[in-house]
Amino acid sequence: SLKFSLYGTCLHFLLTVALLDINEAAAERPLQALEQQFGAEKTIFLKCDVESEEQIRAAFKKTVETFGGIDILCNNAGILNETSWEKTISINLMGVIRGTYVALEQMNRLSGGRGGVIVNTASMAGIGPFLSCPSYTASKFGVVGFTRAMAAASEASGYGVRFNAVCPGFVQTDLMTNIPVRLGQFSNLTAAAHQLVDVMGMVAVSDVAAAALELLTDNTKNGEALLVLQSGNMYMQFPSFNPTQNKPL
Ligand SMILES: NC(=O)c1ccc[n+]([C@@H]2O[C@H](COP(=O)([O-])OP(=O)(O)OC[C@H]3O[C@@H](n4cnc5c(N)ncnc54)[C@H](O)[C@@H]3O)[C@@H](O)[C@H]2O)c1
Ligand SMILES: *[C@@H]1O[C@H](CO)[C@@H](O)[C@H](O)[C@H]1NC(C)=O
Ligand SMILES: *[C@@H]1O[C@H](CO)[C@@H](O)[C@H](O)[C@H]1NC(C)=O
Repeated sequence: SLKFSLYGTCLHFLLTVALLDINEAAAERPLQALEQQFGAEKTIFLKCDVESEEQIRAAFKKTVETFGGIDILCNNAGILNETSWEKTISINLMGVIRGTYVALEQMNRLSGGRGGVIVNTASMAGIGPFLSCPSYTASKFGVVGFTRAMAAASEASGYGVRFNAVCPGFVQTDLMTNIPVRLGQFSNLTAAAHQLVDVMGMVAVSDVAAAALELLTDNTKNGEALLVLQSGNMYMQFPSFNPTQNKPL
């Protein structure tokens, strides 16, 4: 659940947060930071593998029991490993779909929910293809497509839920380490990958967070893919299809 107030330029959130991750150690630092700023009673960690619908369901149930509901969902778990291409699709794309459908059972106004907003983490690789990681690219194109279709479905049917995708360029995280190994059969394209990093530059984690926050708080945004680059942010323009017209709009 979320309440927020504006103090000058600083967004001050009085929120409750459930952090879900398959790796408990990975959640330690963000958990401590949230506890320090907002109080231990505002935050819980729930160990959860997004490949398991059962575990997602259990974690969301616990969240609802603890905090009274779900208003916001960020589907952010992801891997980069071209050798495990099936796992890449299962976590990066199917995990987003699994998480969304289970959350909608709580959030959808048509099933008694109070609506809300979902932000999915796609990537710059969800806008244009990365030659060095085709499976990762496919998963992120999938996230952008799923997000846009759900946004249109929600608007047409009245779910009361907005859906947007944040599409970061390169960010210095664990995912960006050991690139040649992660590229698997495409490891000999490491130089091309590094060239792209050199050209695009790195994006700060705080810029990705600010972009996600914009998508969460601006209630005019639905079905957007927001590209976050060192050179600035850009809302992408895509064709869409109106059911009554047999041509792209
Ligand atoms: N780092 C980048 O350059 C970059 C760029 C664009 C998009 N992204 C995307 O941002 C998101 C976050 O990645 P990151 O860069 O912070 O990498 P990261 O590896 O630091 O974080 C990913 C997190 O996902 C968790 N995770 C992995 N598999 C999981 C599973 N099955 N169930 C639950 N949690 C799981 C990991 O434990 C880890 O904490 C990913 O979706 C990634 O694809 C990253
Ligand atoms: C990628 O997947 C392969 C095959 O499952 C595994 O052996 C390897 O450890 C993984 N690499 C990374 C960086 O996770
Ligand atoms: C990568 O390897 C393939 C075959 O193994 C080869 O055809 C290609 O030229 C190599 N590319 C680079 C950039 O080295």
